[in-house]
Amino acid sequence: MIAVHRTAEEAEAAVTSVLIETIARKADAVLGLATGKTMIGIYHRLVRAHRHGGLPLARATTFNLDEYCDIAPDHPGAFRTYMRHHFFAKTNIDPSRIHFPAEGGEAAFERAIRIAGGIDLQLLGIGRNGHIGFNEPGSSLTSRTRKVHLTPMTREANAEDFGSLERTPTHAMTMGIATILDARRVILLATGAHKRHALADAVDGPVRAGNPASALQRHPNALIVCDSAAAAGIEV
Ligand code: GLP
Repeated sequence: MIAVHRTAEEAEAAVTSVLIETIARKADAVLGLATGKTMIGIYHRLVRAHRHGGLPLARATTFNLDEYCDIAPDHPGAFRTYMRHHFFAKTNIDPSRIHFPAEGGEAAFERAIRIAGGIDLQLLGIGRNGHIGFNEPGSSLTSRTRKVHLTPMTREANAEDFGSLERTPTHAMTMGIATILDARRVILLATGAHKRHALADAVDGPVRAGNPASALQRHPNALIVCDSAAAAGIEV
C-alpha cells in the first residue's frame, strides 16, 4: 500500500495521524522509532499533540532502529541526542521504556522487544541507497539486530552531524530486517526528490538484498507514505 501526498508536510501529517491513532487506541503502545531529517516534522507534530491534545505517552515503550558505534551517547550526532532533543525531552515518556540497540546488547534488545509484546508500529525512513535503519544494501532479509559497517554514501549523507566525513562513524548498531518485519505494522515515510530512486526500487523492483526497503513488499501490513517528489520514479 502506498499513499502519495502533494507535499512533504501533508505526508508528515498523514504519518503522524497513524501514530496518534495507534497510541490513542493503545496507551501502552510499543513503537519502533526512526531518526533523520525526514522524521523531525513527525516528532514536532507528536509533541504538539501531546502538549496541546493530551496524547498519552507515559506508558508507551519505544525501540529506536539504530545508533552509531564508538561515540558518546550525548554526542551531538548521536541518535540518542536527536531523539532527546526532538521528542523524549519534550514528552513524559518513561526513560526506562526507551531502548536503543547497543554493541554487545543485541540479544538483550531483541529480548526486550519480545518481552514488550512485539512492536505495534514501526516507523521507517529510507536512505538514498534504499537502506532501512542502518541495514545497508546487501543486508540479509533475515537479519537481526547487529553491528554493521556504514557505506561511504551513508557516511557522506550523515557527515554534517559530525562536522566532517573523517569524524563520521564507520559502524553502527541496527535493528535487523527480520526484526523490522516482525512489527505488526510498518509505515515508511519518504519525502524529497533525492529519495525517488530508492523508493522506486523498493516499490517496483524485486525483493532483493540490494534494496533493503524492498523487504516491505513481504510485510502484510506495510504502508509507504511519500510526497510527489519522492514518488516521481514509481511506475506502478
Ligand atoms: C539514516 C538513518 C535511517 C534514515 C536515513 C534517512 O541513515 N539510519 O534510519 O531513514 O538516514 O535519513 P533522512 O531522513 O535524513 O534522509
